[in-house]
Amino acid sequence: MKVLAKQVRHNSAESRGVRWDGHVDNMRRQNEKELEDPAMSYPDYYLKPFHAYETGNLEWLAAYEVQPATYAMGIRTFKDKQHWSGDQCFVELRSRITDAIKSYHTRHGLPLPSRIADMGCSTGMSTQWLAEQFPQAAAITGLDLSPYFLAVAEERWVRSAPITYVHGLAEQSPFSDSSLDMVNFNFVIHECPQAAIESFIRESSRILRPGGVLAFVDNNPRSATIQNLPPAIFTLMKSTEPWSDEYYSFDLEAAMRAAGFKEVVTLETDHRHRCVMGIRP
Ligand SMILES: C[S@@+](CC[C@H](N)C(=O)[O-])C[C@H]1O[C@@H](n2cnc3c(N)ncnc32)[C@H](O)[C@@H]1O
Repeated sequence: MKVLAKQVRHNSAESRGVRWDGHVDNMRRQNEKELEDPAMSYPDYYLKPFHAYETGNLEWLAAYEVQPATYAMGIRTFKDKQHWSGDQCFVELRSRITDAIKSYHTRHGLPLPSRIADMGCSTGMSTQWLAEQFPQAAAITGLDLSPYFLAVAEERWVRSAPITYVHGLAEQSPFSDSSLDMVNFNFVIHECPQAAIESFIRESSRILRPGGVLAFVDNNPRSATIQNLPPAIFTLMKSTEPWSDEYYSFDLEAAMRAAGFKEVVTLETDHRHRCVMGIRP
């Protein structure tokens, strides 16, 4: 089942010109975990196999394959746009998310964020995107629990951008109290149990300044596309993500409101994904 799930992602990426195997071969020289915190204690939920990698996010092959796998997600979303490349699908998917975040700021009279955390930044694709989309930002920190992913992020890092990467836990982050304007979790929480998501919300409330924005971007449990997936495909999708049942049954908006966030809304960014935002009072 897991091998099949991986093959589906691989084939859909290659069908739009993403050279999966060639990319991985090019990456293989990247094998120094310079940002690793050797004292890091990994939560049990993180030590499960993910995405058909036996050691989950804690291995080199998983890190090398992040980029084509991320393109595969965009390609799956814009299946009908046969002439779009993997990169075009990525840009469309991410632009809609950024538009949702910017319009939320405008609607609530908030200035665009200057100090941003990209929690679960993986190999930095979301962090670099944020840096391009929020050019006014003074500091963007990509935080991730996988030192392998961070090694790849460091390698592809455009050093002129206001980006820093850190090996850390999103639920116990190194940021000081009230120090950030926006905290983003892009495609992280479908990989986490409910207790961890609740901790992310609490931690975000601590590190955001009053008026700061918390944004969770992920699969939309209310999406007709996801709800109408044939059971076999849904099972295939879940076979490589051990916590997805917890994610799909979690009331994220209610948890954010219960933690004190105001103006909590869900915006559909495309037919599969949503952006849930709230403001720290
Ligand atoms: C699907 S990837 C997200 C990719 C990226 N943000 C994007 O938008 O393309 C999920 C990431 O969350 C990270 N992650 C999961 N739990 C975490 C935690 N508790 N603290 C920090 N990072 C975590 C994983 O290591 C992985 O890199």
